[in-house]
Amino acid sequence: MNKLMRVCATLILAATTTLAQAGEVEVLHWWTSGGEAKAVATLKKMMEAQGHTWKDFAVAGGGGEAAMTVLKTRAVSGNPPAAAQIKGLDIQEWARIGVLANLDDVAREENWDQILPPKIAAIMKYKGSYVAVPINVHRVNWMWANPEVFKKAGARIPTTLDEFFTAADKIKAAGFFPLAHGGQAWQDATLFEAVALTRLGVEDYEKAFVTHDMDVLSSDKMAGVFATFQRMHQYIDPNSAGRDWNVATASLIQGKAAMQIMGDWAKGEFTAAGLKAGKDYICKPAPVTQGMFTFNVDSLAMFKLNNEANTKAQKDLARTILRPEFQKIFNQAKGSIPVRMDMDMSSFDACAQASMKAFKSTSKSGGLTPSFAHGLATTSAIQGQIFDVVTNFFNDPDADPKVAAQQLADAVRSAR
Ligand code: GAL
Repeated sequence: MNKLMRVCATLILAATTTLAQAGEVEVLHWWTSGGEAKAVATLKKMMEAQGHTWKDFAVAGGGGEAAMTVLKTRAVSGNPPAAAQIKGLDIQEWARIGVLANLDDVAREENWDQILPPKIAAIMKYKGSYVAVPINVHRVNWMWANPEVFKKAGARIPTTLDEFFTAADKIKAAGFFPLAHGGQAWQDATLFEAVALTRLGVEDYEKAFVTHDMDVLSSDKMAGVFATFQRMHQYIDPNSAGRDWNVATASLIQGKAAMQIMGDWAKGEFTAAGLKAGKDYICKPAPVTQGMFTFNVDSLAMFKLNNEANTKAQKDLARTILRPEFQKIFNQAKGSIPVRMDMDMSSFDACAQASMKAFKSTSKSGGLTPSFAHGLATTSAIQGQIFDVVTNFFNDPDADPKVAAQQLADAVRSAR
């Protein structure tokens, strides 16, 4: 065989090996806003670069409720996707019914136990084995502000609740919407969660939403949370019912609204619009929550498959997600921070750098607490009960905060 023929033979062999190993990954997620779509495109690209086929299974709807309903239908019919965005305690529930794949071999090869914070690794494991891969850490207790609107209204960006209401009054009087918001249950719960953290502090927040202490849930303090939450309603756009969160973020970008209390996926929208942190928009912890961090970890749980090539593609997907290259580009687009604690943050924006610093310091100080609005503190059954009480309360101007606190306790009790 001459040299040219030998090279050709090697190339053909390489191509057929790649083809034989190339599989398809179907990935269920709800990342359909501008920033989210850019982020998920980075994963698609990296999978395609490895020869695999990406089958997009996007189900629109912030917070993922619609996606979870669709996933259940697919799973019941015995045809789940290779991977699905399933978070927090729900990972355990899916693993318990025996449908999730074991990722321990990839985890061992890639040192997941060494690179992940132990608290997050534990969420991804069922009976000591990895069944899901974490993608990022979102901080939920953020407040986003449009500095131009503040300037026009002569208001200061608030760090306390009193300052918040003073600023909101000025902004409203100047003809802007103080608070960008979308009237959907999960968004109401996201705002309520920030107020709860503000008024209860981490210890009572956890008693209420993690360990479900009935005394705290029905307490006067909790009634105070509902009262503050109710007071905020007058500062949102009256046409916000049903509005998507990213449309609310867009009203901030367009200079119609001044603030939004929302997780840092909102930053993905600013980034996608070409805006610069600290100049075009400001990030501050939600009032009074400096030194606290409500965390929300996106993760893909992997389903058992019976096709060898697709299983290989699924493992490559899991492997790719925790590689530094992906952690960087995905999280820069998504607004979150890497879930690997060993990343160089110098190319991230100031808000992400602040978030990583706060994540690390609150891990030690005890200010790190799971977000119930995003499925990290409770199961989706309890979460659903909380959402109902919170959203019904928010939409009824005559609702009584004391009654709501009792309803909250009753609702949580009924779902346990
Ligand atoms: C969260 C999810 C984020 C983001 C947000 C809005 O629950 O963790 O990744 O997508 O919903 O859709």
